[in-house]
Amino acid sequence: MRILSGITSSGECHLGNYFGAIRQHVDLQAQGEGIYFIADYHSMTSVRDGELRRRLVREVALDYLACGLDPEQSILYRQSDVPEVCELSWILGSITPMGLLERGHAYKDKVAQGLSADHGLFAYPVLMAADILMYNPDIVPVGSDQKQHIEMARDIAQRFNHVYGAEVFKLPEPRILEGVSIVPGTDGRKMSKSYQNTLRMFWPAKQLKKAVMAIVTDSTPVDAPKDTEAPLFHLWSLFASKEERDEFFGRARAGGLGYGDVKKDLLARMLDFFEPMRARRAELEARPDEVEEILAAGCVRAREAAAPVLDACRSAAGLGRQT
Ligand code: ADP
Ligand code: TRP
Repeated sequence: MRILSGITSSGECHLGNYFGAIRQHVDLQAQGEGIYFIADYHSMTSVRDGELRRRLVREVALDYLACGLDPEQSILYRQSDVPEVCELSWILGSITPMGLLERGHAYKDKVAQGLSADHGLFAYPVLMAADILMYNPDIVPVGSDQKQHIEMARDIAQRFNHVYGAEVFKLPEPRILEGVSIVPGTDGRKMSKSYQNTLRMFWPAKQLKKAVMAIVTDSTPVDAPKDTEAPLFHLWSLFASKEERDEFFGRARAGGLGYGDVKKDLLARMLDFFEPMRARRAELEARPDEVEEILAAGCVRAREAAAPVLDACRSAAGLGRQT
């Protein structure tokens, strides 16, 4: 089974990325051939500083590796090291209806906020389709917010196959992790690099504490029953077993459990949970060349995996010399 996914290096990874993406990627490694990439072309619609882009790729690579991605087993590469994806993106863009892209929520949201969108953001689902279709993966594990993009990639694949009368692309299947819905941010909205409401697992303890203490809560007094649907409880339950949750939520609903105590316990659980990964990250950070070597090896393997699909695509579309 071939598994493909990526993370945009538009900022440092946070709990939403961990529970919605990285953890699934790491868990799936044992089940097949994992191909994971750091989407720096995708970061171009938001990050406009070259030095920062390079640094963020490195940070995301460190996060992935620290969280358990095994570069011997899986392929980890930097998107822009395989620029063939841009060619495929053009090929696919040429058969993608405008109407499909106009329904894209990343683009629609931006326009709805009154912000001006650029072509990159509009065409983002096409580049994402190219990322996926290039390897004909069996499954694409993503958070629920990316489901629409995978569906678009399916539509685009189907259309290409139909237009050129060849079964070049496999229709990709999303794999949405059951039970992990959207991780809320400290302000109660979806945790996202774009909202400055993140909790980053590798922040120094002091910084993490400050952010945890700032999680929004209502003004229910300590003794009063608490609404366990609140973002704080959702975050807390990420680090608890079902039994612990039932017990803790029971206490919260009965009253007597203050938000301050919940926050303290959340912080302790989070530090504990990520401690081994934090240690691994520190080790990797001390060997700066290693990350680049891993990405370079990943690039070679990714290119090899993509070559047959790209050849079939060019051949079906009549591009280049006949082979
Ligand atoms: P961000 O919104 O911070 O820019 P990305 O769009 O780069 O995050 O997301 C990378 C991966 O992490 C995707 O698979 C996405 O579904 C997942 N993800 C991001 N934020 C969350 C969240 N708050 N809850 C669950 N999954 C998330
Ligand atoms: N768009 C995804 C995100 O923001 C990242 C991504 C880019 C991706 N290309 C992909 C995920 C291909 C899965 C497959 O999270």
